Amino acid sequence: MHPNDDNELSNPIALAPGYESRVTRRRAVLKGGLGLAVTSLFGPARVVLAAPAVSDGSLLGFNAVTVSTDDTVRVPAGYRATVLWRWGDPTGSRQGQPPFRADASNSAEEQTLQAGMHHDGMHFFPVPYDSTSSSHGLLVVNHEYTDDGLLHPDGMKTWTAEKVRKSQAAHGVSVIEIQETNGGWRVVSPSKYARRITAFTPISISGPVAGHDALRTLSDPSGREVLGTFSNCANGVTPWGTYLACEENFNVYFNGGKTITPQMGRYGIIKRQGFRWHEFDTRFDCGQEPNEPHRFGWVVEIDPWEPASKPVKRTALGRFKHEGASLAVALDGRIVYYMGDDETFEYLYKFVSAKPWNPKDRAANRDLLDQGTLYAARFGDDGKGTWIPLVHGQNGLTAGNGFPSQVEVLLYARSAADRVGATPMDRPEWIAVDARQKAVYCSLTNNTRRGDVGNRGADAANPRIDNTFGHIIRWREAGGDPTATDFQWDIFLLAGDPANADPAKRGTIKGDAFGSPDGLSVDPRGVLWIATDVTTKTLKQGDYANLGNNQMLASDPATGEVRRFLTGPNGCEITGITETPDGKTMFINIQHPGEAANERGDPDKPNAVSSWPDGGRPRSATIVIRKDDGGVIGT
Ligand code: FEO
Ligand code: CA
Ligand code: CA
Repeated sequence: MHPNDDNELSNPIALAPGYESRVTRRRAVLKGGLGLAVTSLFGPARVVLAAPAVSDGSLLGFNAVTVSTDDTVRVPAGYRATVLWRWGDPTGSRQGQPPFRADASNSAEEQTLQAGMHHDGMHFFPVPYDSTSSSHGLLVVNHEYTDDGLLHPDGMKTWTAEKVRKSQAAHGVSVIEIQETNGGWRVVSPSKYARRITAFTPISISGPVAGHDALRTLSDPSGREVLGTFSNCANGVTPWGTYLACEENFNVYFNGGKTITPQMGRYGIIKRQGFRWHEFDTRFDCGQEPNEPHRFGWVVEIDPWEPASKPVKRTALGRFKHEGASLAVALDGRIVYYMGDDETFEYLYKFVSAKPWNPKDRAANRDLLDQGTLYAARFGDDGKGTWIPLVHGQNGLTAGNGFPSQVEVLLYARSAADRVGATPMDRPEWIAVDARQKAVYCSLTNNTRRGDVGNRGADAANPRIDNTFGHIIRWREAGGDPTATDFQWDIFLLAGDPANADPAKRGTIKGDAFGSPDGLSVDPRGVLWIATDVTTKTLKQGDYANLGNNQMLASDPATGEVRRFLTGPNGCEITGITETPDGKTMFINIQHPGEAANERGDPDKPNAVSSWPDGGRPRSATIVIRKDDGGVIGT
């Protein structure tokens, strides 16, 4: 779950008084419906015949696990899952780092030397650089947000500058070095690579918006350096071995104050927020620093190979609630990122670099992401789609319409996408590129507001009103070229529960039921991995009563079969999917176990819902999945 719960703008977190309550929910008449859902425009032969040959015709070689409400991680017979690195565990950046204290009494300063909270997007980089090592690597991990009810010994009973500092120190990104021996992985300590990037680490701002008046603040008159990154949700990588951390729900950290401008509102900034940083750090008070929110909502490039390097916010990729940035490389070497804006009725974006990357000179790629074209997606009802350029002077993005230059187009990318008529989607989460099949998949996690009075109804790409369970959409670029501006799309599946009383909620899954797809990854064999994030408030209730805890599933795109591979502990979501090059080790993150009871809840009962993984206070953690016979995961 996220700080603003299910990412409905009108429904921010529970502790935020003064927000407008949700529009009265009255179901609109069912329009559209499932008949529109499956418009397969991609030649099925291209999908089926190009799949790798396997003896039994399926990529999936494991026995499914059943749904579970156990407070543990369950994997198929013949597999094992072990905990590698939990919130509070030392990074290994120096010897003798303070250990985690079970009562959460580590100081803010100690937290800067430990794993942050709420692990999310993650990537394994083989060591040495540019190798294919599967036994030694750098693991870069996002820490999306904190549950301050768990972060401090007395939870939210008091609120102090030290608590704000610790909360900020538990956000951001970690780089750790890990090594495998006889199938077991450990964190290398000391490691010259290990470091923490927090909500107060100096970060450069580059690209077209850097230095603009709208980015200048009292503490940074240059508009080119910001303290910190936070709400780092999913991620991306570059071909030159850097990591992209994507800033998602940045709005909830800012107290809007008396005047909420239309642009603040468009990004979800309200008068009072639940994250209370502003009480001790004035840059989170928009009354004092109205431009500080403009410095968040970007994609941040981090070089894990240069521990002293300063991360950089790349403004050419636009400002919105970035879920992730999924890489495709064009034949001519230009770099393409597919990016979702995770909120109800928001858009899918694509960035195409102006120049090709240089495989021979790493330094030459340093600022490659500062120039390029940002597009927003329009999905036609006929199964065809268009990437519409968000370029000043085109498609109505003119001064007369509120876009005096490209700066405003990028800074207010949501408004630019509104203007050009992009298609509002059902919460775009992760995107996975299947380079061999030239197919791209995106999780549309859910949107229970679609079809409500005053909201949009169904369309072909978002075919269900009251979309409780979400769906996965797929597209193929014209000519297999990721820089193309035309594509064809279909719906890979509608998630759901076959036992649901409402036929519209049964979905089209061939195999095991799930809902709220979030994490997506295509492995080297072509398996599509799907991780779920059912919001805690709906987990185990109502429509989700049969589906148990959040889970990870595997799908063979050639057959469409979906098989459940893993179930998580109580109150968690599953995220962070990454693998070693040989496919024999998979790392995933268990985020926010125990959330239902502990989100700003009772500090005297920190493990009321979950005590995973150690029996005490629940701790987000990276886990390692291996096959007992040492084989490839999923076989
Ligand atoms: Fe942070 Fe959209 O998940
Ligand atoms: Ca997510
Ligand atoms: Ca989610």
